[in-house]
Amino acid sequence: TSLESGADARALTALTRRWHPVAYSGEINQQPFGTTLLGEPVVVWRDETGRPHAMRDLCIHRGTALSLGRVASNEIICAYHGWRYTADGKCSRIPQLTDSSQIPPKARVDAYHCQERYGLVWVALLSLSEQPERSLAQVPELEAGEWTVVKTGPFSWQTNASRQVENFTDFGHFPWVHPGLLGDPERPEVPPHNVRTEGDVLHYEVLRPEAPNSKEFPVFSNAEQKQPQRRSRYELHLPYTIVLRLGWGGREGMVYFFVSQPVKEHQCRGYCIIGRNYNFEQPASVLQEFERVIFSQDQRIAESQRPDKVPFDLAAELHLKFDAVAVAYRRAMKANGLG
Ligand code: FES
Ligand code: CO
Repeated sequence: TSLESGADARALTALTRRWHPVAYSGEINQQPFGTTLLGEPVVVWRDETGRPHAMRDLCIHRGTALSLGRVASNEIICAYHGWRYTADGKCSRIPQLTDSSQIPPKARVDAYHCQERYGLVWVALLSLSEQPERSLAQVPELEAGEWTVVKTGPFSWQTNASRQVENFTDFGHFPWVHPGLLGDPERPEVPPHNVRTEGDVLHYEVLRPEAPNSKEFPVFSNAEQKQPQRRSRYELHLPYTIVLRLGWGGREGMVYFFVSQPVKEHQCRGYCIIGRNYNFEQPASVLQEFERVIFSQDQRIAESQRPDKVPFDLAAELHLKFDAVAVAYRRAMKANGLG
């Protein structure tokens, strides 16, 4: 109905006012990188100083993707007829014109906000004259230099970003979907937990049974425990960011920084960055392979879910007490105009 599409349009507008990741830092170099964010084609490139810039991936001349072009002298050059644009989107040269004062003022592309942090490049689809809402979540462990940091993924799924985030918040599925890796099938009960919503951040914490470390993936610090228990402190930052801190009662800790890129309505790309203050010598490939297995176990479940987008109308599903996080996520997304 038009009422529903009006609500969708408002949610989309609210989402464009937020920062979203578009790539790991290492994916962006001088060669322009084409991606899609909230259905918009976006090109990201680095200037000579290494600073990343983002703009609409569409040359105003004939609509060619600028990501097919190249970068020179801090400008991006279209592959088709060589029009050049500065980082703020202004066309600075049209090679076919002998007189450069003839460049029409309309010759420009939309430039977007772009920043680099936590080893990710972030974009807000707003014009440079407006300011994005909210800053990024704070994760000091990833920036202090005392923890090792491993980037895993990215994980491209054919579903809405809200489904990928919801899957990451959900610990009730561990014994079923990840038996022996994240959960113990003998102990499937969901421990009691309360969700505290503060503005656009949900906080919750659980002490839950965990499967002993597998020989294949010795990634958790639970070797001394017979029936290991893990304390997990979650922060879910609307719309699509999770900061999860794990501990086992000692000084060893792990932090998961997970954020999903809303590529388009039924497509997302998850970035999962993991910090830890132990296992310094373990090669990054162990965690990367571990997460590749975990995420592929989740992917087939999440891609099968209908509707593709988390229904923000609570009456559309059956929620039980242990679904408190899912319920709070739906409420908060709706209350913040994001769902
Ligand atoms: Fe880009 Fe012609 S389409 S210069
Ligand atoms: Co899972």
